[in-house]
Amino acid sequence: MKSFGQKSWMLPQPVLIIGTYDKEGKPNAMNAAWGGQWDAKEIMIAMGSHATTENLNLNPDFTVAFATQETLVASDFVGIVSQKNEPNKIAKTGWHVEKAEHVNAPVFLDFPMTLECRIKAKIDETPEGYYLVAEIVNILVDEQYLAEDGKPDVEKMRLITYDPIHHGYIALDKRVGNAFLDGKQLK
Ligand SMILES: Cc1cc2nc3c(=O)[nH]c(=O)nc-3n(C[C@H](O)[C@H](O)[C@H](O)COP(=O)(O)O)c2cc1C
Repeated sequence: MKSFGQKSWMLPQPVLIIGTYDKEGKPNAMNAAWGGQWDAKEIMIAMGSHATTENLNLNPDFTVAFATQETLVASDFVGIVSQKNEPNKIAKTGWHVEKAEHVNAPVFLDFPMTLECRIKAKIDETPEGYYLVAEIVNILVDEQYLAEDGKPDVEKMRLITYDPIHHGYIALDKRVGNAFLDGKQLK
């Protein structure tokens, strides 16, 4: 085993697209890999100091979409360009935008699945950012990504994961087992 010391190499990491409105109601999006489930109905995200952070300071509502192979280029773009410097950021993505049903935040219709969220708590808040904990108010899924049982079909979504070691995006589109079941073979 080779030792690498302390790194932010938790695997696999999500590619979350955080949607917010600015003070004029203009949509913005940013990419976040440092996030995950916090509690049954809550998520957490490590937020730096961005245009998105300013939007969230005015309005605690946001959306979280999961990036796909189809949305990869624009998802990376929203992670390397700030709306502070590029007012046409969202227009350049080509994404289709609608207001969310349950929160005051944009939904990008090009993504299969979107969480509608509202901030519950900000932890360790400094000018550099904070860890946000947010309630999942609702989940929206494009009907074409539903399985026969009516629930979201993750395999169909062609999601991507972020590789923090070589700064890549890796495809997640093949089911290879059954949770709470396959392990029973060794019981
Ligand atoms: C792969 C990737 C992962 C990122 N993860 C995070 C993250 O977890 N937290 C964060 O604050 N910024 C993260 N960023 C940086 C923001 O997405 C970036 O600064 C973005 O331009 C902010 O946009 P805004 O200023 O328009 O809100 C990430 C960027 C990339 C490309």
